[in-house]
Amino acid sequence: MKATLRLDKLLAHTGFGTRSEIKQLVKRGVVSVDGKTAKDSGMQVNPERHRITVDGELVVYREFVYLMLHKPQGVVSATEDNRDQTVLDLLDEQYSHFDVFPVGRLDKDTEGLLLLTNDGKLAHNLLSPRKHVPKMYYAEVSGAVNESDIEAFARGVTLDDGYVTMTAELNVLHCGRPEAGELSRVELTIHEGKFHQVKRMFQAVGKQVTYLKRLSMGPLKLDPALPLGQSRELTEEERQSMLAHGE
Ligand code: URA
Repeated sequence: MKATLRLDKLLAHTGFGTRSEIKQLVKRGVVSVDGKTAKDSGMQVNPERHRITVDGELVVYREFVYLMLHKPQGVVSATEDNRDQTVLDLLDEQYSHFDVFPVGRLDKDTEGLLLLTNDGKLAHNLLSPRKHVPKMYYAEVSGAVNESDIEAFARGVTLDDGYVTMTAELNVLHCGRPEAGELSRVELTIHEGKFHQVKRMFQAVGKQVTYLKRLSMGPLKLDPALPLGQSRELTEEERQSMLAHGE
């Protein structure tokens, strides 16, 4: 943890409003540090050593935040973009001071589970190619996905750049009949995260993904009650299981 930080940043992190709102609180004399009324919202404080109160209420500081986003299509998995809306634009204002970033990427047209955090160590561990964190997707695919695709994905398929994928588990929910205009519906679990991996794996077997949604990442499952475009903080149980998985 950083030893010191600005008082207004600390209060913004703990949900006391924007920097200008916090300035007003300080001006009103309701913020105190170790029992003394704070005079400057930019003063340096150490959340581990200083006792900070607002209107007498003790401020409990936390450094990290962990958010689950149900990413919609049309939004990019980046912290900034000149053209498109980013996943950060979908988050509640109260998280704007946490400097969160998406852990890995979903394509602009992919929906589903995206973890956002400012815990760089966890992100690094979850994304490490050595960890093989499983990621499960639901996909709709043009063409009849069949037993030979299940076997090919289990063996590993050769992508357009010559890379041979690790073993992946394909579960066919419905084998579509292309002659009837039907799509196949599948679940696929991969243990790595190459660029456009799911789409390119289907390309490798002559099929095209028309819809893609991530359902889980390691132990974290997309909350079925979380509406598209909405986010929520991980529960304590989810957070602990992710941290344990990322070790
Ligand atoms: N694979 C893809 O092709 N796209 C994604 O967004 C995620 C995995």
